[in-house]
Amino acid sequence: MTAPTGDQRRKLRSRQWFDNPDNPDMTALYLERYLNYGLTREELQSGKPIIGIAQTGSDLSPCNRHHIVLAERVREGIRAAGGVVMEFPVHPIQETGKRPTASLDRNLAYLGLVEVLYGYPLDGVVLTTGCDKTTPACIMAAATVNIPAIVLSGGPMLNGWFRGERTGSGTIVWKARELLAEGRIDYEKFIELVSSSAPSVGHCNTMGTASTMNSLAEALGMSLPGCAAIPAPYRERAQIAYETGKRIVEMVWEDLKPSDILTREAFENAIVVNSAIGGSTNAPIHINAIARHVGVELSVEDWEAVGHKVPLIVDLQPAGKYLGEEYHRAGGVPAVVNELMKHGLVHEDALTVNGRTMGENCRGREAEDRDVIRTFETALMQDAGFIVLRGNLFDSAIMKTSVISREFRDRYLSNPADPNAFEGRAVVFDGPEDYHRRIEDPALAIDEHCMLFMRGAGPIGYPGAAEVVNMHAPSYLLKRGVTSLPCIGDGRQSGTSGSPSILNASPEAAAGGGLALLKTGDRVRIDLNKREANILVSDEELAARRAELQKHGGYKFPASQTPWQEIQRAMVDQLSEGMVLKPAVKYQ
Ligand code: FES
Ligand code: MG
Repeated sequence: MTAPTGDQRRKLRSRQWFDNPDNPDMTALYLERYLNYGLTREELQSGKPIIGIAQTGSDLSPCNRHHIVLAERVREGIRAAGGVVMEFPVHPIQETGKRPTASLDRNLAYLGLVEVLYGYPLDGVVLTTGCDKTTPACIMAAATVNIPAIVLSGGPMLNGWFRGERTGSGTIVWKARELLAEGRIDYEKFIELVSSSAPSVGHCNTMGTASTMNSLAEALGMSLPGCAAIPAPYRERAQIAYETGKRIVEMVWEDLKPSDILTREAFENAIVVNSAIGGSTNAPIHINAIARHVGVELSVEDWEAVGHKVPLIVDLQPAGKYLGEEYHRAGGVPAVVNELMKHGLVHEDALTVNGRTMGENCRGREAEDRDVIRTFETALMQDAGFIVLRGNLFDSAIMKTSVISREFRDRYLSNPADPNAFEGRAVVFDGPEDYHRRIEDPALAIDEHCMLFMRGAGPIGYPGAAEVVNMHAPSYLLKRGVTSLPCIGDGRQSGTSGSPSILNASPEAAAGGGLALLKTGDRVRIDLNKREANILVSDEELAARRAELQKHGGYKFPASQTPWQEIQRAMVDQLSEGMVLKPAVKYQ
């Protein structure tokens, strides 16, 4: 990096605030208050880039809280490279703590961050990411404002352990619930077992939405190579925080912006990596949202077209067995990309934040542990990407095929006369409360030939779209060893869940989707080969049901509880479209 010229210094965006001789009044006003805690005029007026640290960590956001400490190293990096630091808070988003669901706040944090990046004297920004929605919220905002931006992930927690076995974030909850329902552990043991999965600072240590989104941020080229996988407490985490701080200053001088990095090729790289790592079903929602805010065409169908044929090569829970520490030790994202590059699946020329291409960053980064990051030949599964289904129930819904269990395959997908297809009796729930109230009701007579439907759980029906589609079978079936019934719905599911649900159905029932017409007792047919999902009733009957529904004012859902719920419901798009705020995407 050559020293910046005087001309470069004069052109800094922050000079419009801090050193604008054409407007001495405003310059003085802008300047004086930023001096009041000890910054000097020299720092603010000599042409040093002002670098924001978008701080997502707080006591309310434990997954990201470590960023409060890491920011010290980021500051040192920014200072070392000649920048001035201005750290500021981002609206907190905690996946496990926020009611009714953290994803309601993704667009709120996005809006808040857009205003900060646009309205304050910042030349570049370090985006501190981690917990599920913090990563997309930050990148979406950087895409909209398009000033130089770099992602610093907080890193996963250390591995969880219980009696000599790995316990992974979120994933252990599903297992522990089964043990509790079967009466094999009590409440005390249940809490102890679940808590064992969270042994340190950091975000979820499984390949849930957090590890997925941070891996994909790296695959998009938005963070330094190797950043995503480093566990939060490791020394390398603080070291990469320092390097990230140094690098953002250089990016300002190079004028390297999100729009230079977030190209169609970068998004295709992210899709391919998502399949290879066994990434979360939340990824298409968030990645498509980022694409929409940067103006790149990307559809939910692209996830199958680009990603389905890719094998699963990372053995992490929930699709596999290891956790974050092994992922990092095996080489993280660069080792995964290196493997994909050997098979021509990566756009190697895609530019990344370090100024080099994806190919330059990752070529030759052989995996250090072949149990954890496999070759294509020893992959855990071939064709491991999502498939996209459609029919009279919805225009699109996705299914994560890499988590279809042996039990599920044997029970539903291995009829030789009708391979990869199954029919069943629909049992329909309207929202998670309805499910919890009625799932054990013997009158529903749920057996292994039923399919559970969750509707009213999309972006409008349940503001933010709830992670509730993966429903447990009733306990009487669990006791008989039937642990997974087919689940379908217009909500989402947690990235830490290993359920092969059919989810993110769009349009949702509340937006007039076919799910609104379904009745308990209907026969439904799912054909994975044909990628179809249909209610087996005539078109005439469906038309009659729709007319009846419309007569009564359409599908009913609960009222909003907060102003933001109402505001978002009025302008949010469907899950297939990234659940973005429709009026926001034109600001690029
Ligand atoms: Fe925050 Fe999983 S709950 S990362
Ligand atoms: Mg979640």
